[in-house]
Amino acid sequence: MSEPVRIGLLGRGTVGSAFVDLVESRADAIEAATGRRPEISGVLTREGGDFGAILERSDLIVELIGGTDPARTYVLDALRAGKPVVTANKQLLAQHGEELFAAAREAGVQLRFEAAVAGVIPVVRTIQESFGVTEITKVFGIVNGTTNFILSQMAETGAGYGEVLARAQELGYAEADPSDDVSGADAAAKMAILARLAFHTPVTLDQVPFEGIEAIQPDDLAYAKELDLSLKLLGVAERRDGGISVRVFPCFLYSGHPLAPVGGPFNAVMVEAPAITEVTMSGPGAGGVETASAVLGDVVSILSGEAPVHEARERLPLVADVSSSFYLHLEVADRPGVLARIAQVLGEKEISVKSVVQRGIGDDARLVMVVHECLESRFAAAMEEIGRLAELRAAPRSIRVIEEEFV
Ligand SMILES: NC(=O)c1ccc[n+]([C@@H]2O[C@H](COP(=O)([O-])OP(=O)(O)OC[C@H]3O[C@@H](n4cnc5c(N)ncnc54)[C@H](OP(=O)(O)O)[C@@H]3O)[C@@H](O)[C@H]2O)c1
Repeated sequence: MSEPVRIGLLGRGTVGSAFVDLVESRADAIEAATGRRPEISGVLTREGGDFGAILERSDLIVELIGGTDPARTYVLDALRAGKPVVTANKQLLAQHGEELFAAAREAGVQLRFEAAVAGVIPVVRTIQESFGVTEITKVFGIVNGTTNFILSQMAETGAGYGEVLARAQELGYAEADPSDDVSGADAAAKMAILARLAFHTPVTLDQVPFEGIEAIQPDDLAYAKELDLSLKLLGVAERRDGGISVRVFPCFLYSGHPLAPVGGPFNAVMVEAPAITEVTMSGPGAGGVETASAVLGDVVSILSGEAPVHEARERLPLVADVSSSFYLHLEVADRPGVLARIAQVLGEKEISVKSVVQRGIGDDARLVMVVHECLESRFAAAMEEIGRLAELRAAPRSIRVIEEEFV
């Protein structure tokens, strides 16, 4: 009989229960791969279990409680007691990463968290290990399955946001309180983690501005189809102007973009660097068994050997004003000269137009255009000016567009 590895489990909800099942069903394979047979040495839930006693009789701790408290205290205590930790907790890492990584380094134990970003897709391992010394220029993608499901359904069926959200809740793709997902906050936490790993610099959740999908209108998606665009909620972390920009926003992509066909609750992350061109990874971003599988992968990695704990090598500034291309939706009076007035405002701000779709609707018209990349502050100033034109029937609506061509 091989020496067992005793796993202390904190939390036995959706992911924790699936993890217990996987540990049981994959025990032989784990023993064959690592020489140690896993056993669950204790379980802590709100209902029962004693953390101190579980820590005492465990070789490693798996944290699947979620939230920052008491998860932070438990993880810190475990690391300081010299026990490696696996967690799926993006909030914990996005808010307290610096403290946790320091505690792990000090104790000389591993802290692994593959499941915290993009579920079962091995994006953390790839960025930290395969691309650990690659000069990554950009990490971006679809890191929230709930919003991707909602946007895909809105585009396919033409239904409104509220109706599709209700369907997503019925199907289990959205929680009863979906605000963390639909506001972009969940994706922001994941992007803070990815940016930290990709650029070796401290990034915390409060440094990541985010916009959600609540204001997206079905007609934006309908017009976008005519312009060959599809809508995604994107997290983007990139090197810009000597610093980095990390943000979450709804964004149109042209049909040739590798992320454009990623529909439903799936996630996909792209990594770009001169040495690797670009790599795209996609798969399920959530789900009990999928997430538990990523957690188990981390446990096996810990049993298989040492790996360095993340350490910030640089302190890069966060750049606030970056350039983007935009889709612009205007409801205007259907009169001669309106398009010229709008083009004049855009021209004065040195914003050039890539494409335009115009439709007459009674006395009014819809003007939908895509403008080439410009500084976001300049675009905001143009929007303000256009919003004041007497011909405008409603506040202008805009959504970012990624113009990059992929072949
Ligand atoms: N669900 C997914 O698809 C998914 C995907 C990626 C990452 N994650 C992450 O995985 C983690 C777990 O998610 P989940 O969906 O499994 O959550 P969940 O179903 O809500 O389960 C949470 C578990 O933690 C326990 N717990 C909560 N607060 C506690 C406390 N103060 N003390 C002790 N136990 C406590 C709960 O106990 P009771 O049973 O007594 O309530 C429950 O067993 C989270 O960090 C989440 O962000 C989840």
